[in-house]
Order: sequence, then C-alpha cells, then structure tokens
Amino acid sequence: MIAARARGLAGSGLAEDDVVIRTATGDDLDGVLAVGHRTWPVTFEPIAGPEYVAMGLAKWWTADAVTPSIRVGRTLVAVDGDEVVGVATYGLQDDELVNWKLYVLPTHHHRGIGTKLLDAVVDRARELGHDRVVLSHLEGNDDAASFYARRGFVETHRESGGSVLPDSIWMAKDLTGPADASGRGVREEDQ
Ligand SMILES: CC(C)(COP(=O)(O)OP(=O)(O)OC[C@H]1O[C@@H](n2cnc3c(N)ncnc32)[C@H](O)[C@@H]1OP(=O)(O)O)[C@@H](O)C(=O)NCCC(=O)NCCS
Repeated sequence: MIAARARGLAGSGLAEDDVVIRTATGDDLDGVLAVGHRTWPVTFEPIAGPEYVAMGLAKWWTADAVTPSIRVGRTLVAVDGDEVVGVATYGLQDDELVNWKLYVLPTHHHRGIGTKLLDAVVDRARELGHDRVVLSHLEGNDDAASFYARRGFVETHRESGGSVLPDSIWMAKDLTGPADASGRGVREEDQ
C-alpha cells in the first residue's frame, strides 16, 4: 500500500496539513465521487461549458464508473483526516500506463497534494516496469498544462475535440532516466 505524507503550509504560521496518500478502498467511494463533483464544474465550465461538465460527471464520476478502478487497486486517494481531498487513477491502454484522473479539491490546492498523487502514479509505473507515463488535459486547462510540464511531462500529440470541444493535449513523462530520491526523474535544470 502506498502511504506518504504531504506536508504543506510549513512555516506559514497556519496549521500544518497531514495528508495521507494511499490506495482507495470501497469505503472511499463517496469521497472519490465528491472530489469529482466538486472539481469538475470549477475546472471545466470555463473551458468547455456546462454541458461538457454534465456529460463528464455522468460518464466518469458515478459509482458504476469509478468502482472497477477502485476494485483493481488503480485509484489512489489523498486523505485529510477522514475526508478524501484528492484522487488519482491510472490504467493501461495499448500497454502504456495512462494517468486518467488527477483532481484535488480547490480548498486543498498548493499544498503539495497533487504532486504527491502524481508521484505515486509514477512510482507505480516504475514498479510495473513501464518506461513512460502518459496523460492528457484539455486545451485551455493552462494550470494543469504547466503543472505537468514542471514535473517532466512533454507534449506528444493532440486529439481533436471536434467542432464543439477543445482538443485534448497528450503528454508523456520518460521514466528511463535516473530518478531522484523522491522518485521523480531528474530534470535537466536540476543537474
Ligand atoms: C492540477 C492539480 C491536480 C494540482 O494539485 P495541487 O495539489 O494544487 O498541486 P501541488 O500543490 O502539488 O502543486 C501546485 C503548486 O503549488 C506549489 N506548492 C506545493 N506545496 C506548497 C506549499 N506548501 N505552499 C505553497 N505552494 C506550494 C507547488 O510548488 C506547485 O507549483 P509549481 O507547479 O510551480 O511547482 C490541481 O490544481 C487540480 O486539481 N486542478 C483541477 C483539476 C485538473 O485540472 N486536473 C487535471 C486534469 S487533466
């Protein structure tokens, strides 16, 4: 089981977080769904509109949609006390490890939780012998784009969203290089 501490606000004078990253269980179902339903409208309405948000919540954030990933151990949660405050999921597509979801409650951004969740997925990929992790974000989700780029992901290609939706931008992180002590690849600027 993955267990890691994400400590934030250290030295800020505010209370310190004590967030645990671990594999989700069936008991986390409601918390996982809540993260999706609380992050999707604020993230995607400005980029893709309310119909896209309604479609996405109905397709990817129902009990039927998230339970299979929880059952096979491919959903990770960030838990603050007894509240699920972040979710990451991954799966295999064409033998590649895809990070499908990465969401942190807006109230918990900028505390290192998204980084810890993404690191945990990358660690899983390394353990499973993959030489890269791939993921996508919608064009216009600039915060996500720069978040991933700063963590070693590089754009590989774009997938058309058709006439109505923004394109999906696919990125990959190469895992064949050396990893630093945190499990992250060593970036050129760090060397
Ligand atoms: C993208 C997302 C997952 C990042 O989650 P997060 O928990 O805010 O991420 P982190 O806190 O680890 O990192 C965000 C920034 O806060 C900074 N940060 C981390 N801990 C911090 C702290 N204690 N104090 C101040 N800043 C901190 C990080 O350095 C990082 O900045 P950087 O990218 O310039 O390095 C989150 O913004 C999110 O859920 N967005 C909406 C959903 C979304 O777009 N998901 C991706 C879909 S493809």
